[in-house]
Amino acid sequence: MVITICIGSSCHLKGSRSIIQGLEKKIRENELCSQIELNGSFCTGECENGVCVKIDDELFSVSPETVDTFFENEVLRRVR
Ligand code: FES
Repeated sequence: MVITICIGSSCHLKGSRSIIQGLEKKIRENELCSQIELNGSFCTGECENGVCVKIDDELFSVSPETVDTFFENEVLRRVR
């Protein structure tokens, strides 16, 4: 699974860095390093939402406050 986090300027201001750190932590805690690849991308044109995060080609809007819920509901569901 590839998770792509937008690091364009608008998403950067909305906290993409802390979302990346949050996801890295969750991936380590769940020992999923070999199954999940984290990538950065430039602006994907979805700036009006939260930070733009993609799981493979599916688009989500995530904020630093919702990153844990996002991981549990969307990421874990797909790897298990
Ligand atoms: S900067 Fe992230 S979608 Fe535009």
